[in-house]
Amino acid sequence: KIFDGAVEGSKFAAAEIARLIRDKQSKNENCVLGLATGSTPKSLYVELVRMHKEEGLSFKNVISFNLDEYYPLEKDAWQSYNNYMHRHLFDHIDIDKKNINLPNGELPKEEIKKHCAEYEKKIEEAGGIDLQVLGIGNNGHIGFNEPGSSIYSKTRLINLENSTRLANAYEFANISEVPRLAITMGISTILKAKRIILLAWGPSKSEVIQRSVEGAVSESVPASLLQQHSDCTFIVDHVAASDL
Ligand code: GLP
Repeated sequence: KIFDGAVEGSKFAAAEIARLIRDKQSKNENCVLGLATGSTPKSLYVELVRMHKEEGLSFKNVISFNLDEYYPLEKDAWQSYNNYMHRHLFDHIDIDKKNINLPNGELPKEEIKKHCAEYEKKIEEAGGIDLQVLGIGNNGHIGFNEPGSSIYSKTRLINLENSTRLANAYEFANISEVPRLAITMGISTILKAKRIILLAWGPSKSEVIQRSVEGAVSESVPASLLQQHSDCTFIVDHVAASDL
């Protein structure tokens, strides 16, 4: 779906999410959301916070699972995705704090495998992800699943490409401070979501959007693997759609 800009696209995405949350509320069910970070979903979170404050949208029945987190990084570090999510969304809505789940970037390395397996299990026990929000990296990554990530991959520790570290360096004092590793949900974790929406805005995303939507399904462009999902929508602005 192509919109004039990020604000319009985000409003559409927020309305879809709100509809799902309210539909689940009317059935007394939880709504399990997979959430993303980066600059792209900021306008989505602005709109969701507005809907909470002005339209009474409640998040009491929402259980959230974030896609990824840098490793190692303290939860309270400004650059952590934990901190980002609280700043942009959780601190401004009525979500129950015990329903918030993010990969933990603070654990010792020997505990990561167990933590990742538990994260997968928690998603399953919550009933699976009803709607997963995604952004996209310039190299086609989703979450932090870098090119080459297997379609069968689950939540795990991954090496970040230097291009990814460079793209995200603006959040850190300099590139050497950007962690070399991250914990990310896997491609199979993402593809198990019942519904997926991927957001992309601006000129830097046009080439990778074209490759993901019209190119071959290939692990070398992780977002192209979404072509195999039965309910996935790309929500983009005109500029990000310009190579289609
Ligand atoms: C980051 C995140 C991704 C995000 C992507 C794009 O590295 N791990 O989840 O989609 O890169 O970031 P941005 O939205 O800032 O372009």
